[in-house]
Amino acid sequence: MKLAVVGVTGLVGGEIMEVLNEYGFEINQFIPVASERSVGKTIQFRDADHTIVSMDAAIEMKPDIAIFSAGGSTSTEHAPRFAEVGTVVIDNSSAWRMDPTKKLIVPEINATQLTADDKIIANPNCSTIQMVVALAPLHKQFGIKRLVISTYQSFTGTGVKAVRQYEAEKEGGTMGEDNAYPHKIFANCLPHCDIFLDNGYTKEEMKLVHETRKILGDDSMGVTATAVRVPVSGGHSESINVELGNEFEIKEVISLLENMDGLIVQDDPANNVYPMPLDAHKKNEVFVGRIRRDESKENTMNMWVVSDNLRKGAATNAVQIANYVKKNFIN
Ligand SMILES: NC(=O)c1ccc[n+]([C@@H]2O[C@H](COP(=O)([O-])OP(=O)(O)OC[C@H]3O[C@@H](n4cnc5c(N)ncnc54)[C@H](OP(=O)(O)O)[C@@H]3O)[C@@H](O)[C@H]2O)c1
Repeated sequence: MKLAVVGVTGLVGGEIMEVLNEYGFEINQFIPVASERSVGKTIQFRDADHTIVSMDAAIEMKPDIAIFSAGGSTSTEHAPRFAEVGTVVIDNSSAWRMDPTKKLIVPEINATQLTADDKIIANPNCSTIQMVVALAPLHKQFGIKRLVISTYQSFTGTGVKAVRQYEAEKEGGTMGEDNAYPHKIFANCLPHCDIFLDNGYTKEEMKLVHETRKILGDDSMGVTATAVRVPVSGGHSESINVELGNEFEIKEVISLLENMDGLIVQDDPANNVYPMPLDAHKKNEVFVGRIRRDESKENTMNMWVVSDNLRKGAATNAVQIANYVKKNFIN
């Protein structure tokens, strides 16, 4: 197994190395890749120093799998070059997610769609992944008619630059022109994740709309979202209002959620038990709680979903896909 990690010096890249270790992913040759700024520097993985190589050098080594976390334009340009030499690319950027010829995979839900011919596989957006893990069993049982989503997203979702901005502001300073956001993030909330689009929504909000429909296989599902960046480091939180297609009992909903792979129910309000990003930090699962009926609308419920965006929202999901590909398509 020759495995390349593209964007190895980034927040997601670092997390991928940790998750590969936790999963005991067997690797014979580890190929770390980053931008020209980092080529030649070394990075530690599994008690050895590895020299970071360029994209061209990595392609020459014909890796079996390349996990990309280096931004959309890097993926658009280079993922097809890896695919041409036979590498299976698992891409964390938004470049390929809505391409009808590419699969958008959350292994607990739809890994069986994959075939040996899939050479570029898209990893969904972090806020979408954690949400669909909790929605999939409800959609299967009752059908989902409409979702109203409000997110509370960690600044770690914007990468190294945002972490530097937060740390500088916490100390009373600023990164000036190197800020990741147009406003302060420390002690603040920004109703602004990714860029604004012509329809008044942000790109992050529209990712929630389009990617959810694609993964759950239902273009008729109503989805509306407000995505908010918060000064939290452990993970993303989401308040989700779900209108179901049929009548339900809360007990039945909880039982379906309890039986979903990769999902942990934390719902005991009497004892102040509910999911929180501080607890989700460095965990590979998605957590759900505050499961209750929406008393203002029939067949409708509310829930609160939390997960570490760098883990299940990015690294863990990608490594789980790599595991599936390795087991099923690589000898
Ligand atoms: N953060 C999250 O929660 C999250 C979740 C899901 C998906 N993602 C996606 O994952 C990707 C990385 O996010 P991140 O948060 O890890 O960002 P980050 O911390 O800013 O890291 C970016 C990485 O990309 C590398 N890179 C940049 N330009 C490159 C180029 N031209 N060629 C090769 N490598 C290049 C950087 O290398 P240098 O160090 O050499 O500059 C660095 O390793 C993005 O596409 C993001 O949308 C992030």
